[in-house]
Amino acid sequence: MLSDNEILEESRESFELQIEDNEILDFQKIFANDNPVRIEIGSGRGEFLIKTAMNQPEINFIGVDLKEKRVKTLYRKLYAEKIGNVRIAKIFINEENINFLPQNSIDRIYLQHPDPWPKKRHYHRRIIQHSFIDIMHKLLAKDGIVDIATDHEDYAMWIVEHFNTRIDFSSIYKKGFTREAEAGHVETYFEKKKREEGFEPYFMKYRSK
Ligand SMILES: C[S@@+](CC[C@H](N)C(=O)[O-])C[C@H]1O[C@@H](n2cnc3c(N)ncnc32)[C@H](O)[C@@H]1O
Repeated sequence: MLSDNEILEESRESFELQIEDNEILDFQKIFANDNPVRIEIGSGRGEFLIKTAMNQPEINFIGVDLKEKRVKTLYRKLYAEKIGNVRIAKIFINEENINFLPQNSIDRIYLQHPDPWPKKRHYHRRIIQHSFIDIMHKLLAKDGIVDIATDHEDYAMWIVEHFNTRIDFSSIYKKGFTREAEAGHVETYFEKKKREEGFEPYFMKYRSK
């Protein structure tokens, strides 16, 4: 029987996506197929990534998180479930640090409960900024989707207001958001925790034009 460390090393070998400086990923090489590729930024404990990938084996998924502990949890869970269509990168995503994705190549970008940075002086740290939306637009393939959930009302309105002024994205939802989870919605660890505290999520989906 493999030890915990051996399992970690074996799962790292199978699922780790190592990204060299200035590298642009070759998805055909990584996944050995031409299936669409989706990325989740901030996968956390991986509930969303893993269930979504298991439900859609015809799609390739890249999960990223900046924390080593979270990434190790993801390797272990993927290994236990024997999932072939996911790779994990430990990386801090920002405007300078996302160029490893080829332009016009991504089918969907998921942000499930991104850090809301509630204090005004920290708003500049929110991942949703016009400059980041510009980058997402470049990375998405035609009709690609940005799929966001947040329980934080102020951040939800920030996101809606940002996308409202864009001519390169259209909202799937009339008001810019919905409070109704779609059929088959996968609840994340964070979403469950926040619901228990009385904070219901806002769901937003924007299609790239
Ligand atoms: C609030 S938690 C949400 C986790 C998970 N999506 C959920 O809903 O349970 C935010 C996660 O995003 C990760 N994260 C925050 N900023 C990030 C960034 N710029 N790049 C990559 N990961 C990030 C954090 O380490 C954390 O795991």
